[in-house]
Amino acid sequence: MTKVRFLHPDGSLDREVEAEPGTNLLDLAQKNGQPLEGTCEGSMACSTCHIILGADDFARLPRMSEEEDDLLDLAAHVTRHSRLACQCGVPEGEPFSVKMPGGSVNLENR
Ligand code: FES
Repeated sequence: MTKVRFLHPDGSLDREVEAEPGTNLLDLAQKNGQPLEGTCEGSMACSTCHIILGADDFARLPRMSEEEDDLLDLAAHVTRHSRLACQCGVPEGEPFSVKMPGGSVNLENR
């Protein structure tokens, strides 16, 4: 099991949970009350599952696809270490921190 820490946009801790490595981060976040809409349910059409990672945790995940990178360009509050939670699994090992962005852009309602 890996400890996953969900952080508020200001970096303060919301909650810490344990998850099986490989668990989809969007599913885990939604089960634990995090404000990620995930409007397109993982089909990479919305970016409402945007999350922000620390540099070290970002490097623990497999590289993102070009499609994910392109979609992130349209999300709000994007950083160099942003990902789409629906495309990420919980990594093995050390605790993993996931920060909520300050807001989101829902492309499906445009
Ligand atoms: Fe829509 Fe992740 S849930 S892109």
